[in-house]
Amino acid sequence: MELNNIRELTFEYGGDWEINHVDRLLKLVEIIGETEDYDRELIWAAVHLHDWGAFSKFFKKGKDHAERSREVAADILNQLNFNENKQKIILDAIREHNKTGDCSSMESILLRNADYLDFLGIIGIARDFAKGPQDIKKSLEAVRKRFKFFDYLTLPKSIQIGKERLKEMNNFIERLEAESFGFY
Ligand SMILES: [Fe+2]
Ligand SMILES: [Fe+2]
Repeated sequence: MELNNIRELTFEYGGDWEINHVDRLLKLVEIIGETEDYDRELIWAAVHLHDWGAFSKFFKKGKDHAERSREVAADILNQLNFNENKQKIILDAIREHNKTGDCSSMESILLRNADYLDFLGIIGIARDFAKGPQDIKKSLEAVRKRFKFFDYLTLPKSIQIGKERLKEMNNFIERLEAESFGFY
C-alpha cells in the first residue's frame, strides 16, 4: 500500500460526498494553518482517514465514528512506512477531531478546526439540507445545532472565518423566514 491508495480508498468507500469534504478540509487547513508549523503529509493522511469509521463498510453501531476511524486507520497505517511517532500523531488527530478541549498536536488542531468550519456557513447549510430528509424544518433544526461548533474553533484565522460563516447562517435563517412567510 502506498500513501496515494488512501485517497483512492476514501473515494471508493466514501464517494463524492467524502472526497469533496476532504478536499475542502485540505484547503481550509492551508488557510487557517498559514502561519502554523505542521507536517503536511501527516495532516493529509489524517484528513483522508478521519471519517472512515462513519462509512457503511466500517461503521459500528454505538461506537463513536472518530474512535472507529482511529481503529481502521491504525490498520491502514501499519501498511505504510510512517514511524511510530508519526502514526500516533495521525491517529490521535483522527480520534480527537469531533471532540472538544485540548488537542495533542498542531495537526490535530488543524483537522478539528477545519472539520468544524465545514459545518458552518453556506457550505454547512448546504450539507445539512443535502443530507435530508425532504423537510425544511428538520434541516433547519440541524443547521441551528451547528452554531455551537463556532465555540470549538481555536485558531485566530478559523475564528475569523467562523464569524463570517455565522453571519451568513443568521442571514440565511432570516431570509428563509421572510421568503417563506413562515411556511416551511
Ligand atoms: Fe467526523
Ligand atoms: Fe469530517
